[in-house]
Amino acid sequence: MTTLGSAPRLLTGATGFVGSHFLLRWLLQGERVVALARAGSASAATERVRQALTVAGGSLAAAPRVPAPQAVCGDLSADLGGVSPEAQKRLRELGVRELWHFAASLQYEERHRDAIFETNVAGTRRALDLAQALGCEWFVHVSTAYTAGKRGGVITEQLPRRTDGFNNCYEASKADAEHLVAELCAARGMKLAILRPSIVVGPSCSKSTGGSSTGIYGFARELGRARAPLRALGRPLRLRGEPNTPLNLLPIDWFIDDVATLVKSGIAASTIVHHTLDSSPTIHEIGEVVAELLALPGFLIEPAAAPSTPLEQLLARRTAFYAPYLSGAKHFERARPFPHRLTRDDLREYFAACLHESERVSRSEPELSSARKRLGAQS
Ligand SMILES: NC(=O)c1ccc[n+]([C@@H]2O[C@H](COP(=O)([O-])OP(=O)(O)OC[C@H]3O[C@@H](n4cnc5c(N)ncnc54)[C@H](OP(=O)(O)O)[C@@H]3O)[C@@H](O)[C@H]2O)c1
Repeated sequence: MTTLGSAPRLLTGATGFVGSHFLLRWLLQGERVVALARAGSASAATERVRQALTVAGGSLAAAPRVPAPQAVCGDLSADLGGVSPEAQKRLRELGVRELWHFAASLQYEERHRDAIFETNVAGTRRALDLAQALGCEWFVHVSTAYTAGKRGGVITEQLPRRTDGFNNCYEASKADAEHLVAELCAARGMKLAILRPSIVVGPSCSKSTGGSSTGIYGFARELGRARAPLRALGRPLRLRGEPNTPLNLLPIDWFIDDVATLVKSGIAASTIVHHTLDSSPTIHEIGEVVAELLALPGFLIEPAAAPSTPLEQLLARRTAFYAPYLSGAKHFERARPFPHRLTRDDLREYFAACLHESERVSRSEPELSSARKRLGAQS
């Protein structure tokens, strides 16, 4: 019997944002980890993972020397994650006892529903089959705090209620996956931990995106792209929402630290954990910061606001995914307190970096680049 975090582990999703940062931290700590990555050969898989680690490492304040990863090629659309019998044998010989499942589709659009469920639910079942075939004791399933779906108020660390409904098929698929892993792990006698981060942003030390382009970054990018017509609008942009809704942004390194603390404290099987901040900035505060950085007249966030100009209608369509997160405040219950907080200065740095990275505005937009310079001078 092993406690979580003490045995060699396999992880999926190492070429993605969250998985690459976890893998980097583990390798720097000397942990024994193998990554499963989509590629035509083990060497190509290793190269993809190395590139992802380089991006993750480059986003830290002091870029570390990236350690050489070990990888097997696989694809969760195939039985047993497409891992060959020879590679499975190698993983067994290495003593892999934990499978950390980060891989997922972060698409959300209804037109991709089948593909999203295929990756997030059927793919998770195959990852679990692989864990069982390797003789793993632990399956760590990386989910999301937003499996709570449309439910507002206090969200508990329990399996989600499907009756509350979901804002999109990403949330629905991740909720189904939680139920699936709970059912299968109980039936197969495998220990399970479900980790539920909120909206993950780049490292707190650099405030860069850390390689992420989803979540809040997608929203900021859309606003950044439309900044010229938004300025020309000559008045605040109307957005439907509740200004005091908190947006639970979680720096990736705080997520990793929180998981490390949890593992160290000896996590029990069948645990569901929120990796969320106890106190988060509101969308009103975030709107002020973004408006300041983009030199916009601001945002008018009201429950009944309706887009009235073609520009507002276009933006509402392009940011439809984010609309449900602008109202219906959620308070994520946590068994353990997590007193970290993002300040307004932190937000400013995060959004300045995001806008800078996504649009290379330092060259073409003197205003934003001077905002970044001002920030640099202040820090
Ligand atoms: N980012 C957030 O803010 C956030 C918040 C809450 C929860 N999460 C959860 O955290 C996890 C990681 O998210 P992320 O932001 O790192 O996503 P990401 O950057 O889009 O990475 C997704 C990863 O999944 C892999 N993948 C997808 N389909 C696969 C398949 N069929 N077989 C093997 N690998 C496959 C991708 O591999 P390829 O490189 O080959 O495509 C990639 O490595 C997900 O479970 C997500 O639900 C993320």
